[in-house]
Amino acid sequence: MVGLGPKDPPSRKGSMHDVPKDLMNQIKILEDLFSVDTQKLKFITERFISELEKGLSKDGGNIPMNPTWVLSNPTGRETGSYLALDMGGTNLRVCEIELPEEHGKFDIMQSKYRMPTAIKTSTAEELFDYVADCVKQFLISNNEDQNIKEMSLGFTFSYPCTQDFIDHGVLQRWTKGFDVAGVEGKDVVPLFEEALRRKNVPIKVTALVNDTTGTLIASNYTDQSTKIGCIFGTGCNAAYFENAGSIPKLEHMNLPADMPIAINCEWGAFDNEHYVLPRTVYDAQIDEQSPRPGQQAYEKMIAGYYLGEVLRLVLLDLAQKDSVEIFEHQDLTSLKKAYSLDASFLAEIESDPWENLSETEILFEKKLGIETTEQERKLIRRLAELIGTRAARLSACGIAAIVTKKNLAPCSVGADGSVFNKYPHFRERNAAALKEILGHDEVVVKPAEDGSGVGAALIAALTNQRIKDGILAGVRNV
Ligand code: BGC
Repeated sequence: MVGLGPKDPPSRKGSMHDVPKDLMNQIKILEDLFSVDTQKLKFITERFISELEKGLSKDGGNIPMNPTWVLSNPTGRETGSYLALDMGGTNLRVCEIELPEEHGKFDIMQSKYRMPTAIKTSTAEELFDYVADCVKQFLISNNEDQNIKEMSLGFTFSYPCTQDFIDHGVLQRWTKGFDVAGVEGKDVVPLFEEALRRKNVPIKVTALVNDTTGTLIASNYTDQSTKIGCIFGTGCNAAYFENAGSIPKLEHMNLPADMPIAINCEWGAFDNEHYVLPRTVYDAQIDEQSPRPGQQAYEKMIAGYYLGEVLRLVLLDLAQKDSVEIFEHQDLTSLKKAYSLDASFLAEIESDPWENLSETEILFEKKLGIETTEQERKLIRRLAELIGTRAARLSACGIAAIVTKKNLAPCSVGADGSVFNKYPHFRERNAAALKEILGHDEVVVKPAEDGSGVGAALIAALTNQRIKDGILAGVRNV
């Protein structure tokens, strides 16, 4: 039985005041390894700005800076019924969104489906058949009376895609642990539409949307001071509006120089050449063991998919060092399992309100079968704080880079994702770092409106309107 108080065997007892010297030393070493000071944040931001520009250039760079063919913010007067499909990292969501006459309002009806783990390493056909089945189920339960052929679908596909049109997207590479064969290098829209046809669902995709672009548009719909949409969740990324004239790689299209176009930065790929980010051996290990080594360097230090893995690798390393007395005589089998801990595990450690960290004690026993001493828990808590703080502080560099490049302050940033919404202190730590970099607090990062639901619906509505108005840049078959 697990009790609430300390229950260490006599040889493993200790109080907060007699932390063994080597664990104290370890904490110090970890602090040096994971802390990022203001100067470093500013240095990273400078580099980030030039990398954003490089991504827009003809030669391109690490950060893809994908034009999305979303050409305006909503007016707030969009109307109609839309379908939205959200294929993120963890769940699948199908929504029907009603945009009423009333300015900036919406109604949403939705169903969530779990993404089976095996699907993440399956084939294109299995993946899209599963997704099409979920859409079919949703329509059967909710849309009996409607003529679904007439409905527009906004498909939020939150992976890096090259878009030549709004309803087109060639997957550049999988991220967030996905590794489905036969999709990279292909346009995902026909792959999905073929699956819909196989399931007799007569729907076409109106717009392929990244979750960040959806977040930008949905947040701007309700708050026009929103200039950037960010996701800090399983993955991380941002979108903002650029002028066509500042995108040399689109020069050949002769677009009006002042035409706004939303850019899906795909900033998770920042610093893939490992020039500025303060990577540790643990970050290098995560990268080497991932399905796509050398990719998403920034994301692998920040996003929820990796935070638990950083904690696990540090603890395992310490436990295997003869010089460090931690988890002595404990069975480390569960700790040795890759990705056995997720970001919610760190979040729980950071939320433990008790002086003796008794909730952390229970967590380690239940999840990993490891009994901890109070000293060990003190180190674990500090380590979780360091990993969570590093993620929040580094996340601020990307925001500061866009704000500085575009001279956006004062403005709001709409942010979504499990890390932003649920990880303790992320927002405060992120806001503090942003202020340190910018030297003011005129940029406020706020919880976003539902980007992959409402945002995708709005983008479908904007696309329909644009076609009606004859603005055909980025539109395929009219
Ligand atoms: C993807 C982005 C996405 C982000 C947040 C990243 O792994 O490459 O497209 O916006 O995760 O979901």
